[in-house]
Amino acid sequence: MLSNQADGDKRRSLHGHWSSRMAFILAVTGSAVGLGNIWKFPYIAGQNGGGAFVLVYLVCVVLIGMPVMMSEILIGRRGRRNPVATMKLLGQEEGSSERWKWVGGMGVLAGILILSYYSVIAGWTLAYIVKSVTGAFAGASAGVVGDEFDSFVSDWRLVALTHTIFMGLAVFVVARGVERGLEQAVRFMVPALLVLMLVLLGYAISSGYFGQGVAFMFTPDFSKLTWGSVLAALGQAFFTLSIGMGAVMAYGAYLPEETSITGASAAVVTADTSIAILAGLAIFPLVFANGLTPGDGPGLVFNTLPLAFGQMAGGVFFSTVFFVLLSFAAWTSAIGLMEPAVAWIVEHFHKTRAQATVGVGLLIWLLGFGSVLSFNVLADTKFLAGTIFDNVDYLTSNIMLPLGGLLIVIFAGWVMCRNSTADELGNSGGLFKAWRILARYVAPIGILLVLINAVR
Ligand code: TRP
Repeated sequence: MLSNQADGDKRRSLHGHWSSRMAFILAVTGSAVGLGNIWKFPYIAGQNGGGAFVLVYLVCVVLIGMPVMMSEILIGRRGRRNPVATMKLLGQEEGSSERWKWVGGMGVLAGILILSYYSVIAGWTLAYIVKSVTGAFAGASAGVVGDEFDSFVSDWRLVALTHTIFMGLAVFVVARGVERGLEQAVRFMVPALLVLMLVLLGYAISSGYFGQGVAFMFTPDFSKLTWGSVLAALGQAFFTLSIGMGAVMAYGAYLPEETSITGASAAVVTADTSIAILAGLAIFPLVFANGLTPGDGPGLVFNTLPLAFGQMAGGVFFSTVFFVLLSFAAWTSAIGLMEPAVAWIVEHFHKTRAQATVGVGLLIWLLGFGSVLSFNVLADTKFLAGTIFDNVDYLTSNIMLPLGGLLIVIFAGWVMCRNSTADELGNSGGLFKAWRILARYVAPIGILLVLINAVR
């Protein structure tokens, strides 16, 4: 996916460059589309009462997510290094301070923490491939599907095993160089996932409860909205778009000079948001049709979609393909989560890519046991936000990513001079002005307002 051919850039990345604009869009889409869309969005929306949460989430995606993503890409392309070194370099170049490197540092840490639990949930999807193939869901009732899930996650050894397998797969690809083969995988995966979501949507429409699902998702009841759920919506916007932690910045470092950052961002945001909304539309009708509760938590998708597959003609096939695709989607995201840490270690400590990846992978694997045990042995050990899993999730999605995003837009909007950003975004009049207003005022003020009100 990366080519080393000269393309006339002012500054070159050590790791090579994307072969085309499409390759970049596919890579960022591959990182954005993942468990965040299909597993996390529905359960967080369910826990936060639906409609009003979804509306706030969509507003956050457009008014905050979009300018943050553009800022990350333009910073990455200008620095052409790992996020830590890029922030340090540009901090100096723009006449500010090299201390901006800590934004990159926080991103490296956030990626490690997120992947520590992400890999555990990805392990569940691997297990669900096996359950699908063996026909565990054929004709199953809600009770059977629910028991299947509960008995799986309560066996910590099985969960640890699938977490280990998933981390092994992630380390394998990243160690060999992120890029080869992945482009093809994403090119196939995202459309295939869309098609399957449409199949599920068809089932949801035929369930007789589609209207109720739609109403739950799109009828805002603002009395249910607390600052806590506004923060959850903001955090979800950051999480699902892979922003706020330098991952998109790391990918931007390999982006050719002539590619439109605005166009690429719009494409990624559109694909990512469509898949999340489709997932919600497929899942909530099933929740109501089967008397389940929307606020059920992290098991929601595993307790609902197998029901639909179990009733469908060709269900074993569709179910297997679905969980294979979801595992793939998680895989391409895991790679992005490791990229800031790996790129930093390679550049800073002069390690080989393989050494850096194995080291980071081992650390993440170990940390992952906190989340492995959160669903069984330590399920009742709760503090602050809940289990260890809940805390790692809250700390990363609701604190570290918004804070990282805040610092990134402040850097792009206020620290970098107008000419530097205009240069990267292509000073295209209206669009550039719109970005600048969002990056300088709307996004920082919005993030601060939510963080302050939700955390105090
Ligand atoms: N966006 C991913 C998802 O929705 C998760 C994620 C968050 C991510 N931050 C990231 C992926 C950074 C890659 C890089 O599943």
